[in-house]
Amino acid sequence: MTFVVTENCIKCKYTDCVDVCPVDCFHEGPNFLVIDPDECIDCTLCEPECPAQAIFSEDDLPDDQMEFVQINEELSRVWPVLAEKKDQLDDAEEWDGKTGKLTLLER
Ligand code: SF4
Ligand code: F3S
Repeated sequence: MTFVVTENCIKCKYTDCVDVCPVDCFHEGPNFLVIDPDECIDCTLCEPECPAQAIFSEDDLPDDQMEFVQINEELSRVWPVLAEKKDQLDDAEEWDGKTGKLTLLER
């Protein structure tokens, strides 16, 4: 099992999640973070830290977020590790909770 970052992180990227991860398995892209499934130890610490409630365990993933398993796996191979919190994106609060953000994912 692994934990998975889902759609609501896109264009928010609060990054509170990275501060609690004991194994630095978050990787950062321009407007989204992903979890490396091979590094995640399922500690559960990040899930409650996300203000956008974008992190789920793979087993609890909503049906409409299933494609994010593949997206996390794929992009964690190419994006660099982010190990410390940084400022959220501009307009994060405005985008928090909006649907249909997958088309806005910058790779
Ligand atoms: Fe990191 Fe734990 Fe979250 Fe996995 S569940 S991404 S190990 S904080
Ligand atoms: Fe994204 Fe939530 Fe982390 S918005 S960057 S998964 S704290």
